[in-house]
Amino acid sequence: MKHLLVTCLSISIFALSAPAFAQESEYGALYEAPGVEETFIYCTACHSEMIVAQQGKTRKHWEDLFKWMREEQGMAEIPEPDRTLILDYLAEHYNEDRPHFPKR
Ligand code: HEC
Repeated sequence: MKHLLVTCLSISIFALSAPAFAQESEYGALYEAPGVEETFIYCTACHSEMIVAQQGKTRKHWEDLFKWMREEQGMAEIPEPDRTLILDYLAEHYNEDRPHFPKR
């Protein structure tokens, strides 16, 4: 009986906290704007989105990074139109002024 109670308690705590967590953002630290979904899908296959969100680069530097990620880290070429969409997203929201640098 005691076990059952503990189990019920932990399930309800999980049920309460799970939606609150999901609301924070589906895309972790990434700023929600057009292109975030594609960026999240392609760029979190190998590492956390944090590694992306902490960077601030010009569009040219993001393109160079794509090349490096392909040649040195084994990333597959991102097909169009997603490649341009992701580059636009990164250049707009993760440029050198770092408008969305993660606070946590
Ligand atoms: C095939 C796996 C893979 C994919 C997919 C991938 N990366 Fe990476 N990325 C890596 C690895 C591995 C490292 C760490 C390299 C190291 O530690 O030196 C890395 C490091 C990075 C870094 C840090 C670079 C630095 O100077 O330290 C950034 C920024 C980054 N990735 C962005 C991206 C973005 C943006 C995408 C999506 C377009 C992406 N990654 C997709 C494998 C990947």
